[in-house]
Amino acid sequence: MKQLSVEHLLGIKYLKNTDIDLIFETADQFKKVINRPIKKVPSLRDITIANLFFENSTRTKLSFELAEKRLSADILNFSASQSSLKKGETLIDTVNNILAMKVDIIVMRHGNVGAGVFLSKHVDAKIINAGDGTHEHPTQALLDSYSIREKLGKVKGKKILIVGDVLHSRVALSNIFALQLQGATVKVCGPTTLIPKYIKSLGVEIETDLKKALEWCDVANVLRVQHERMDINYFPSTREYTQLYGINQEILDRIGKKIVIMHPGPINRGVEITSEVADSSDSIILDQVENGVAIRMAVIYLLAQQIKR
Ligand code: NCD
Repeated sequence: MKQLSVEHLLGIKYLKNTDIDLIFETADQFKKVINRPIKKVPSLRDITIANLFFENSTRTKLSFELAEKRLSADILNFSASQSSLKKGETLIDTVNNILAMKVDIIVMRHGNVGAGVFLSKHVDAKIINAGDGTHEHPTQALLDSYSIREKLGKVKGKKILIVGDVLHSRVALSNIFALQLQGATVKVCGPTTLIPKYIKSLGVEIETDLKKALEWCDVANVLRVQHERMDINYFPSTREYTQLYGINQEILDRIGKKIVIMHPGPINRGVEITSEVADSSDSIILDQVENGVAIRMAVIYLLAQQIKR
């Protein structure tokens, strides 16, 4: 049986192209499962998974939970607001206490960059990074590439535009790594203040003119403006942001070609994207959500295969 080259899923930057192929092949099988009347397989009946969400989440948390249930794993759910972290316990102590209850896999979202890597060095469990601060969100990038492959047949050779708040986005960085690994070209577009200085060193071009950027691409992945991560003003007003970088039907009609529209959610309707575009037939936003479950099932299943039982 084919195996992943990594012991944990901490970031796309640790993966090889063959890992992505294996995850996609496995997700293809699980996508069939979740579209059957009985949407479950007994594969992980002997595995226990703890979902540790130290940061808020809706779809990622639900998607992981559902993926685990579809694989018949036992699940523990934990969110920071109800935890003993507020009483002064360290992350390692919290996790070791959970592991003492015989947990095999930890899915963790955490506000600190590198939290997953840190944990993987200090505890004895498989770690899946469900988002670490502004750093990486590997399962989101995998489901995004998988959705592009499903819609356009392949990722290789495609031109992918990431629009918006790249600076605060873990989705952007993981997408850049994943898309480049698969042979796509990536450009970013947004206000200069929301484009990190290091972006060019990753081989990613910047286009500040939205119309030109849209004319170039096959796919536009639109990011949310992450107000909660902003301690200063990065642009004069939300209205101006929307005028310059918001995706609406009018600009899409003006570019004179069809492009695929994506968004990781949650959407700020009327800010970075209009409802008309988000709900249009060019949008694959809800396919992304459906594929998220299959991708997460694949990642969990493949990591669980490495556990000695
Ligand atoms: C993203 C996240 O949390 O990084 N959402 C998600 O996981 N689907 C993006 C965001 O919050 O805007």
